[in-house]
Amino acid sequence: MYRYRESCRACGSKELVPVLNLGVQPLANEFVLPSEPHSGYAPLEVMFCPRCTLGQLSVVVDPAILYSEYRYVTSQSEMMFRHFEKITADIQRESGKDSSLVEIGSNDGTFLVYALHHGFGPVCGVDPAANLAQLALQYGINTVVRQFGTPAAALVAEFMPKVDVVLARHVFCHIDDWRGIICGLDVLSHKDTLVCIEVPDTEKMLANVEFDTIYHEHLSYLTVRSVIELLNGTNWHVHKVLRYSIHGGALMIMLRRNEWKERDSSVDAFEIGTLVTEEKWKAMALTAVVARYSLQKMVADLHAEGKTICGYGASAKSTVWVNACGFRKDDIAFITDTTPQKIGRFTPGTKIPIVDEAELLVRKPDYAVMFAWNYFQFIMQKNKAFLDGGGKFIVPVPTAKIVEHA
Ligand code: TYD
Repeated sequence: MYRYRESCRACGSKELVPVLNLGVQPLANEFVLPSEPHSGYAPLEVMFCPRCTLGQLSVVVDPAILYSEYRYVTSQSEMMFRHFEKITADIQRESGKDSSLVEIGSNDGTFLVYALHHGFGPVCGVDPAANLAQLALQYGINTVVRQFGTPAAALVAEFMPKVDVVLARHVFCHIDDWRGIICGLDVLSHKDTLVCIEVPDTEKMLANVEFDTIYHEHLSYLTVRSVIELLNGTNWHVHKVLRYSIHGGALMIMLRRNEWKERDSSVDAFEIGTLVTEEKWKAMALTAVVARYSLQKMVADLHAEGKTICGYGASAKSTVWVNACGFRKDDIAFITDTTPQKIGRFTPGTKIPIVDEAELLVRKPDYAVMFAWNYFQFIMQKNKAFLDGGGKFIVPVPTAKIVEHA
């Protein structure tokens, strides 16, 4: 089911240091039906590379298990579309309009549909999940059903020989073989191709104690410094870095081929390796223990008072919280979600059922733990009826707190 990875994915160093250990955990997005078996458990431990500042999991779970029937679908929230608007403007400022675009990890094609309607074209997706490619096709988006690398790039090149923009949103952290991605980029690029890699901002993740974003799909916790190391000796360099505030902080790392001589000054601040350090990782690991304890204690105290508690948002983060805290159905009675593919299934590693979001107003729990805390504002506004009826949210990060009003 998994294998250990001994060397740094970015710079190849074998001098990796353990910085955070969440024990042995189920796969965060493996929401099984009551009748189905699950794949099992794997260690969830982060190793830090002092040489290039990359954080990576000690193990790599077989991607065939993680991605062949992938249930994560790109959010279609207003917040996500505002983010699409921003990244589209930032990319087109660099590439111009009418650029051809390939998206690596295109999921159900949501971004590519947006891109087609906002000046990009032609577009094509690459994603290993056949079920999502099927959905994308319904929206008119073609997907090469593979992990991105030279073979996938060769298939794209059959109908889009050279591409102006390659976008990889939150996908580098899922892929083990980065050298394979770089080789694929070589196949698809011309001298002016822009590559845009969006990744969670590890510096912010550590500062905000978002340990719940650490799970088996997220193999790497990138820094710009580690990407600079990765690109050493390749045809590519880091050209520009943008910061976004979405989901607790993200970076857009733009690459150009080495023929492109200009480099934006935004890269300078990231070149030195002090933004993300071994000490910061270890401090976060300690604070995460306190965060887990604060939620466990709050849930236990509320139960002692006879209160009922559910979860809100069957995110992968919810799996990490539930399993790291050892919650069972008696602690969290159910978790609501809007995703049809998750409803009727269990939170991985537990018998906590996932139910339709409408159940919140039917079952009227006293408290709902907001496991999709990254949509805090949106969720508070959307659930006025729950709040007006006396319901309260518990926001678990950075430490558990009760929120009663929008
Ligand atoms: P997401 O933010 O993508 O987090 P992760 O990467 O940790 O899975 O997932 C959010 C989940 O929460 C997703 O299953 C949809 C669900 N959700 C709701 O049920 N209601 C909501 O109002 C929102 C915003 C999300």
